[in-house]
Amino acid sequence: MPRTKIHKLAVIGDPVSHSLSPAMHNAALRKRGAPYRYEALRVAPEKLEAFMKGKARTLAGFNVTVPHKEAVLPHLKRLAYEAELIGAVNTVVNRNGELVGFNTDGAGYLMSLHVDKKFDPRGKRVVILGAGGAARALAVVLSLAQARSVTVANRTLKRAEQLARELAFRLPKSKLLACPLEGKALESALKDCDLLVNTTRVGLGGTSFEDFPWEKLPRRALVSDIVYTPRMTPFLKAAKRRGHPIHTGEGMLVFQGALAFEIWTGLKPDVRLMRRELLKRLGSGRAPRKPERKSPPRRRTARS
Ligand SMILES: NC(=O)c1ccc[n+]([C@@H]2O[C@H](COP(=O)([O-])OP(=O)(O)OC[C@H]3O[C@@H](n4cnc5c(N)ncnc54)[C@H](OP(=O)(O)O)[C@@H]3O)[C@@H](O)[C@H]2O)c1
Repeated sequence: MPRTKIHKLAVIGDPVSHSLSPAMHNAALRKRGAPYRYEALRVAPEKLEAFMKGKARTLAGFNVTVPHKEAVLPHLKRLAYEAELIGAVNTVVNRNGELVGFNTDGAGYLMSLHVDKKFDPRGKRVVILGAGGAARALAVVLSLAQARSVTVANRTLKRAEQLARELAFRLPKSKLLACPLEGKALESALKDCDLLVNTTRVGLGGTSFEDFPWEKLPRRALVSDIVYTPRMTPFLKAAKRRGHPIHTGEGMLVFQGALAFEIWTGLKPDVRLMRRELLKRLGSGRAPRKPERKSPPRRRTARS
């Protein structure tokens, strides 16, 4: 009897051995009976070009993590609309030898907001802390989701200004603003904020912001953190103490993975299982109480 061909999937990065994606994806692939295996591949920056010309072509698809999310762009045949706007790729699919790039980080964040918190950004005022790659992905998708305004607050003000200016040019219907990570301008942005999201590295390993002006933020504002190690960051703990609803960072990781899974296999993964696998490895097996029946939406077709 002919043996079923096993298609190969991977995550590339440097370092990459810490990645939780292999466990999350392999559990979901097994559950769906999909003939794929997912592994972590360390690709050093100086080896990226050789990888993209060689091994990448033997894979059905792969995720891209730090430091390659922007560096892979010149090696791809086409980019999906959001990846083009964000200027970075976290998912590549091999379509008959053509490598096509997607960015599911932002869409994964939106799905998690929707599924985990029933939060719709349309018409809402958003403040994003940080102006790095993740902030950029969130600013793009929140603007596309018709947030009323998106303010980028960053330690290095110039970087926030540059991001807001560039996105305002590319998304002329959106209102993109910039301010420093402290002082009156931040306080004024917080005053009528509906969603405050931390995308800085503050929180990683339990680090925290000093003197954050919590008193300016309306109690109803949803406070979100995309850092997921630890899951309950000091930022989220402080928000919870003050009575804010909170949104934890593992949801974004789960849904960006679920969207990538669907792009590669055409199948809808068991999102609840993916989250359980992740939480097990993050040290909390607690899954959300409500079943996650909602599946990722169909992706837009990549354009040339
Ligand atoms: N949940 C998920 O699925 C998911 C996905 C992607 C990323 N993430 C997490 O998001 C975080 C950011 O990732 P990234 O790729 O955007 O990183 P990045 O491009 O390196 O940007 C880092 C940002 O953090 C700011 N920052 C760093 N240290 C700071 C400090 N001590 N005080 C204030 N601001 C500080 C930087 O400000 P300056 O510009 O002033 O340096 C910059 O805005 C990481 O923790 C990553 O693990 C989570």
